[in-house]
Amino acid sequence: MEPSRRGDASYYRDDLALVHHLGFGFHAEACAPGMLRILEPVRRRHGLVVEIGCGSGLLTGYLVAAGLHVVATDASEAMLQLARSHVAGAADIRPLTLPLDPVPAADAVVGVGHALNYLDEERQVEEALAAIATALLPGGIMAIDLCDLQWGASRVNQPPRIWRAHDWVLMTEFSVPAPNRYVRVMTTFVRQDDGSWRRDDERHDNILIDTARVPELLERHGVAATVSRSFGDEELPPGLMAIVGRKIG
Ligand SMILES: C[S@@+](CC[C@H](N)C(=O)[O-])C[C@H]1O[C@@H](n2cnc3c(N)ncnc32)[C@H](O)[C@@H]1O
Repeated sequence: MEPSRRGDASYYRDDLALVHHLGFGFHAEACAPGMLRILEPVRRRHGLVVEIGCGSGLLTGYLVAAGLHVVATDASEAMLQLARSHVAGAADIRPLTLPLDPVPAADAVVGVGHALNYLDEERQVEEALAAIATALLPGGIMAIDLCDLQWGASRVNQPPRIWRAHDWVLMTEFSVPAPNRYVRVMTTFVRQDDGSWRRDDERHDNILIDTARVPELLERHGVAATVSRSFGDEELPPGLMAIVGRKIG
């Protein structure tokens, strides 16, 4: 199978997108309360929130339910289709692939599920962070999660894992081929209407970065940011960091 490439729709094709939607909503659910607290000033002033890497709309649903105006974006058409039915017309849902596509000007840019770690090179992650910072209006807020080098260090020799539900199975092998690389080789089986099972395979190559460098990088683009272990009271997995910042100029 061809490895996935930056901005290539081969990340999260139909079946893995569906499996993510059905089985992996816990991260967005855990992050939502902290994210909503961070976004409260934006909600009060009826500001616009741009969500990057919205996936199937799992966080989007919480943002919209809280009364926020949301433009939810993702690189995967399969994810966007799921988001359109999950959030049912309550948000503007559109394709946006970082770092190539412009990020709309916004009072907040948010995202969970480490979309930026799907880029090929650290330089592209920096470009994406710069694009997010530039999109923020004065006083605007950013809140995204990002996998640190610690993500890989804490997952060396991670054993393979199988998740099963009634209508789907996900089998994953993990590797850390370099301190800044995390690879998942995933096979999905999804039950079809006629009772047969369809197989698909995806390989996800994540780039890991030293998140301690991020505040200085964002400062160059007018955003004062901190790196911390959570958006609120949730416990993020080891090596996943919350980057929260405010546009100061
Ligand atoms: C782990 S999923 C998280 C989805 C969703 N935010 C959630 O928490 O359920 C990562 C998402 O990032 C998206 N993504 C990957 N590369 C991207 C890129 N270059 N630009 C925008 N989105 C990207 C994927 O399509 C996928 O939906």
